[in-house]
Amino acid sequence: MAIGACLCSCGGSQKEVYKDSTAPVKDRVEDLLKRMTLEEKVGQMNQFVGVEHIKANSAVMTEEELKNNTANAFYPGFTEKDIEKWTEEGLIGSFLHVLTIEEANYLQSLAMKSRLQIPIIFGIDAIHGNANAPDNTVYPTNINLACSFDTLMAYKIARQTAKEMRAMNMHWTFNPNVEVARDARWGRVGETYGEDPYLVTLLGVQSVKGYQGDLNGNEDVLACIKHFVGGSEPINGTNGSPTDLSERTLREVFFPPFEAGVKAGAMSLMTAHNELNGIPCHSNEWLMQDILRGEWNFPGFVVSDWMDIEHIHDLHATAENLKEAFYQSIMGGMDMHMHGIHWNEMVVELVREGRIPESRIDESVRRILDIKFRLGLFEQPYADEAETMKVRLCDEHRATALESARNGIVLLKNDGVLPLDASRYKKILVTGINADDQNILGDWSAPEKDENVTTILEGLKMIAPDTQFDFVDQGWDPRNMDPKKVAEAAVRAKSADLNIVVAGEYMMRFRWNDRTDGEDTDRSDLDLVGLQNELIEKVAASGKPTILILVNGRPLGVQWAAENLPAIVEAWAPGMYGGQAVAEILYGKVNPSAKLAITIPHSVGQLQMIYNHKPSQYFHPYAAGKPSTPLYPFGHGLSYTTYKYDDLKLAQKEITKDGTVDVSVKVTNTGDRDGVEIVQLYIRDKFSSVTRPVKELKDFARVSLKAGESQVVNFKITPDKLAFYDKKMKKIVEPGEFIVMVGASSDDKDLLKDSFFVK
Ligand code: BGC
Repeated sequence: MAIGACLCSCGGSQKEVYKDSTAPVKDRVEDLLKRMTLEEKVGQMNQFVGVEHIKANSAVMTEEELKNNTANAFYPGFTEKDIEKWTEEGLIGSFLHVLTIEEANYLQSLAMKSRLQIPIIFGIDAIHGNANAPDNTVYPTNINLACSFDTLMAYKIARQTAKEMRAMNMHWTFNPNVEVARDARWGRVGETYGEDPYLVTLLGVQSVKGYQGDLNGNEDVLACIKHFVGGSEPINGTNGSPTDLSERTLREVFFPPFEAGVKAGAMSLMTAHNELNGIPCHSNEWLMQDILRGEWNFPGFVVSDWMDIEHIHDLHATAENLKEAFYQSIMGGMDMHMHGIHWNEMVVELVREGRIPESRIDESVRRILDIKFRLGLFEQPYADEAETMKVRLCDEHRATALESARNGIVLLKNDGVLPLDASRYKKILVTGINADDQNILGDWSAPEKDENVTTILEGLKMIAPDTQFDFVDQGWDPRNMDPKKVAEAAVRAKSADLNIVVAGEYMMRFRWNDRTDGEDTDRSDLDLVGLQNELIEKVAASGKPTILILVNGRPLGVQWAAENLPAIVEAWAPGMYGGQAVAEILYGKVNPSAKLAITIPHSVGQLQMIYNHKPSQYFHPYAAGKPSTPLYPFGHGLSYTTYKYDDLKLAQKEITKDGTVDVSVKVTNTGDRDGVEIVQLYIRDKFSSVTRPVKELKDFARVSLKAGESQVVNFKITPDKLAFYDKKMKKIVEPGEFIVMVGASSDDKDLLKDSFFVK
């Protein structure tokens, strides 16, 4: 306590450089650090859940649960008053799950009473807009965005989200999720940008740039790339189960989006729930120190995931007690703890006992303070309650949510029934759990005011006002569908001209235990839950054309529908104006352009099913059950026009290892509607010293083409697109033949091919 005691008595007379906004951030950090007690430093490294969130959760828990449950953010024996007191004493560095500007400003006002007035940094899961807090723009979920292959849109959404966050005094989003999704059973697939490392990388980079800007203004927020690493290929498909991944797979598939995120300037990173090859990610020195800081020079701070440092002890069992878990995590490279009451005391003890050097604590605190200064929190700790709604949900942001939904909805199948002819289909039956529900907002969204959401039924009525829509409500809950309602839909389908069934999964987290998709909601099959298949089949038995719209996060193996229905639209969770976008696509007001950012398998037994697999993957076909091909391949997506690819040209047929190849292809809109085509370029290394994927996406372009128009699309193949890790794990470009494939999807039948040689 010597330092603290000295500062209390004489600190006031020293010039407080840290309060001088004109001083360089580095000097401000050092000045503040030397004024801080050990307790204050360790407090900066700790997070707490917002008081209102705790109150809301406590209200629905039993006495017993309140005493014992730590999973729902309860701090047994520690009250809201205690949290407030710690905040006033400067012992809490960050809060999460604070959902209103009023609470954020209030907690900040407590921090402003603390000795050094270090502001709180508020973190929140603003995954697709700041949707966890009501009254914010809800954009389509990440998997929908990924299907648009629209990197500029990723930037734009992140930028707008940052503005809405700052308008409610939020400073840090736990996004982008740059995990490469490799198992459709995993409930968090919808939170990712899909299965391709290159696409995930580009979208992640643009999101980071959009959130952070130059990380010094009132409109910038801190991005957090997560979860490091491997949780998207869990051994049994369930969230947080072990991952066992070779260094080759890590470096080729999982690391690139994280490395690129660091290079793009991401200043925080969250570690993953899971263990990786026997070592929990939360104590994994190889990941946090050697790779992240050693190889990639990450200057930001690492935050734990929810209670995962605790799990080093109580789940993974590599620490005999909690204090040991904190020790392992900090010495592994952790900077901030999400979240709880024991951290402060135990970490201080670990330092006092000489087990953790105080200099190690200083490193973490420096990183955290650096961000707080850069975000301007010392100068502007509050947001203006009178101004907040001028930014949130403003017209420009709503328009972006709609535009993004239009670009991300994938037309999987169309035998010609779409676009709908309003003069032919005058009476339409609409049914299914997602037809008239806010579930289109997706995971990580709070319920919104009805007037801020256009459901699919509302969208249809808006776009086709003269059509008679006969709605049979199936409720929102796929597990509890009423057979009588299914039967009623089957009967009413007979008197309709056409049927629309809106099926899928349930994702809204305010009904945590009722979801079928989302965080901690993994599946052992990929079928539609409940009576949904029965509903589709019975409605289709009417003999009237029946269209399936899917609202979901993970791929669903809707094989019966694919074989029997004339049209299927994969909407994912298209956000607050998703209903309008779906209707515009059905009626041809918008020509669909999205392509699958993830493979849709027929069934769970086909997993792992990815397009960029190794050559031997399907050497032996399955003896029974499904074929070795997907239901819909990566990159697939239909349009109301048709495109022709020809004239694939490689300007160089032979290059050196550091050479480049200029590729061009002519794409023609051969139909009678304007459209946007996503032109994809894949590469295969024909023979290599270690096995390489059968194809890998290496470039793409979103090309706007008027009916009848042709365009030559150009790509450049640079050495980094040819490189891989050799037997010694050295990144090299090997001589030999490389096959270039350009076309409309990853399916061979959609690709033109040529090749070149590296000498
Ligand atoms: C999730 C994280 C999230 C955190 C805070 C965890 O359960 O895994 O992705 O950021 O909660 O809400």
